[in-house]
Amino acid sequence: MVFLTPAGLHFILFLGSVRENRNAERVKKYLTNFIAKHNVSVEIFDPVEMAVYNYTKVVTPLHYYPKQEDAPQHLLDNNARIKKADGFIIVTPEYHSAVAPALSTLMDQFPGLSYAYRPAAIVSYSKGRFGGIRASTQLRTFLSELGMIHIPSVLAIAKVENTITPDGQTKDDTVLASTAAVVEELIWFATTVKEYSKVKELLYKGKKWIL
Ligand SMILES: Cc1cc2nc3c(=O)[nH]c(=O)nc-3n(C[C@H](O)[C@H](O)[C@H](O)COP(=O)(O)O)c2cc1C
Repeated sequence: MVFLTPAGLHFILFLGSVRENRNAERVKKYLTNFIAKHNVSVEIFDPVEMAVYNYTKVVTPLHYYPKQEDAPQHLLDNNARIKKADGFIIVTPEYHSAVAPALSTLMDQFPGLSYAYRPAAIVSYSKGRFGGIRASTQLRTFLSELGMIHIPSVLAIAKVENTITPDGQTKDDTVLASTAAVVEELIWFATTVKEYSKVKELLYKGKKWIL
């Protein structure tokens, strides 16, 4: 089998902060600038930009509507976007050694199967010197529950306000090297899943799962 180049890959990047003056802005700019140098497209699921949908509270997630067609159109549309993505970049700040609630409430709006069987890169950041690695480690359990393939490499950005400028630049060699490893791995896994899915369909509990 010949695996093709990753042309046409599409990723969704999730942000996990709704805090005023959030550092999520600089991390978002840094990552989108970095990824723009690769042959992939990225859309952002941002709990602030999506505030109109109230994704900061888990009231009725899509999978809790007895009939999916009764769900609000924005839930159906955003769910379709997630199902179509080839991979995910999950960005969390560390809040009290844990995954930020804005991230989990955003992702909780949609059923696990919508995320399943695609790779996810984990990015964490914090003001502290460990770069949110405790949140990052917790995130693996959460992403497993959604059926995602979380890739081995991680990016943990320590002292985020010193490391990334407000316009998303960094000179930190460790951050640059980790980002390169994460993006390369994510593209590799996403390409592998996408290309192999074209020749062999995946069954979930005996039912067809369309990637
Ligand atoms: C509620 C809360 C808890 C925090 N807990 C931690 C922590 O456990 N470890 C750490 O290094 N920084 C911690 N911080 C600092 C954050 O890592 C830092 O404020 C970061 O910029 C948060 O991301 P945001 O600005 O995008 O919201 C905490 C911040 C908040 C608001």
